[in-house]
Amino acid sequence: MKKRIGILTGGGDVPPLNAVIYSAFHRGKDSGVEVVGIVGGWQGLLDKATVDLGRMNFDPSIGGTVLRSSRVNLGKVDQAHKRITKSLSDLHLDGLIVIGGEDTLSNAFHLKDVPQVLISKTVDNDVGINEPGRMVNYFTLGYPTAAEKIASFVSLKEGLRTTAYSHERIMVVESMGMHAGWLAISSAMGHPDFIIIPEFPLDYESLTEKVIERYKRRRSVIIVVSEGARWSNGDYISADENDKDNFGHPKFKGVAEVLAKRLKADVERHFDARNVNAVNPSYIYRSGKPNSLDLESATMLGKESIRLLSSGVSEPVFLIVREASQGFAPEEYRLRELDDIGGFHRFVDGRFYDPIEFQATKEAVNYLSRITVDHGNPVYGLQQNHEEN
Ligand code: F6P
Repeated sequence: MKKRIGILTGGGDVPPLNAVIYSAFHRGKDSGVEVVGIVGGWQGLLDKATVDLGRMNFDPSIGGTVLRSSRVNLGKVDQAHKRITKSLSDLHLDGLIVIGGEDTLSNAFHLKDVPQVLISKTVDNDVGINEPGRMVNYFTLGYPTAAEKIASFVSLKEGLRTTAYSHERIMVVESMGMHAGWLAISSAMGHPDFIIIPEFPLDYESLTEKVIERYKRRRSVIIVVSEGARWSNGDYISADENDKDNFGHPKFKGVAEVLAKRLKADVERHFDARNVNAVNPSYIYRSGKPNSLDLESATMLGKESIRLLSSGVSEPVFLIVREASQGFAPEEYRLRELDDIGGFHRFVDGRFYDPIEFQATKEAVNYLSRITVDHGNPVYGLQQNHEEN
């Protein structure tokens, strides 16, 4: 009998979601598998809200998710297993393709007997394992596009560096990244002066000294800071602990503003600090069209999901992107090898970040060079002359 597979997207949107849906749907059609859209993530499955993808007009190169999204924690839903199993049976679904970040994918741990292919997507790039010498899940979908955007956003050729230079500014740029600094780290390809990430609590005094020294020399400083960055005592620089989402994550309230304000007050004694600005591109990192690496990877994962589910996968598997001699290839990773999503949550460690210089390491640049291009050297014009004198 023809297999029926449901596909859903959960969590924050990223640019290549429609490309996975499109690819799975068409590969399914070619191989006799019916792919049914579930509207609104896990909530849509609880509500049995489906759509016939064959009747929908959508484009794989447009960002966001045509299926919409939700952030549902099945751990907090009464009789979640029973209700999901009933929905699957009522909808005659043999399995699921679940595209989500850490939270959406963690729901699979409540449904260990449901055939599922789990595809990680998040601009935070924090789902995967970084083993010494190898990245299990080289990147999460959406990260390549966002990495390219943030690097370009701060760069000289396409971004903020020209304004920072022209107006002799110190610009504090906010990056997404609740717990992990991967997106901020990727800005290294656009050459900001300093990067601050959640994994390494901020030595504020040392940063201020370095900012003053750099500004005196170059008259333009760009600092990239992750939304989840912390002071040295471990407190978030900016988060409302009383305003939490469904998974208990606090809402962040503008780290760049807070840091710029404090810096402004502290550098004033040394020079005219009116030009200390905060910039927050916010959802721009997540929106818009996927770049070619995201598009190709999404297409590859969509096809591979159909292959796995039609070949009789009977439990949840992560479908990851691994490095191959030519580009990247899909690889499956059994969920049963992990106790919970914590085992698949990855952070930036000392191999990728230098907390003394507030910079990405050579190893990070090496890693990033497979994902995005270098956006050029920021030293030019008058500042170069100053340095040479
Ligand atoms: O998890 C991805 C992410 O983009 C985080 O970096 C960010 O904090 C969060 O989603 C914000 O999403 P929303 O405002 O849509 O809840």
